[in-house]
Amino acid sequence: MREEFTHNLWRYDGSPGELIPLLQSAQNHFGYIPRRAIDYISTVTGIPESEVFGVITFYSQFRLRPMGKYVIRVCAGTACHVSGADLIRDTIEDELGIEVGETTEDGLFTLNTVACIGCCSLAPVIMVNDNTHGRLTPSEVRTIIRKYKRGEKSLSRESGAACETEAQK
Ligand code: FES
Repeated sequence: MREEFTHNLWRYDGSPGELIPLLQSAQNHFGYIPRRAIDYISTVTGIPESEVFGVITFYSQFRLRPMGKYVIRVCAGTACHVSGADLIRDTIEDELGIEVGETTEDGLFTLNTVACIGCCSLAPVIMVNDNTHGRLTPSEVRTIIRKYKRGEKSLSRESGAACETEAQK
């Protein structure tokens, strides 16, 4: 990753369009775009920090903070949508006090939406890191999130196995 980041900086030819690949490689390297990367890119390219920052905040693909320990992906596919995915998302937002695209202050959770996860028979579905949780109700999703907060790991294993079984039917 470091080589890619450095290579892209080295190739920078001064055109505004080149800033995007630079920021993408920085984010790939660090997992987000830290302040020191903005300083570095600004120094090497001569683009004012304010402009670099403006580009970062314009594009939703870029993050200025690291992802949370647990990345929650709420499926927004058709099957989940008609099964109440919006209510599940709203419940998670309420439980965590954040909106889609944000990370909790304690760095524990990041909330995103995603297209079909591939477990449509279990709609509505969420993923927490690599673990799938399906057939959710608002109260169940609150219980799941609270268990992650407490660090209860056995829960995710049960739900992940259920999705694999259903998907293979
Ligand atoms: S639509 Fe949600 S898992 Fe397929």
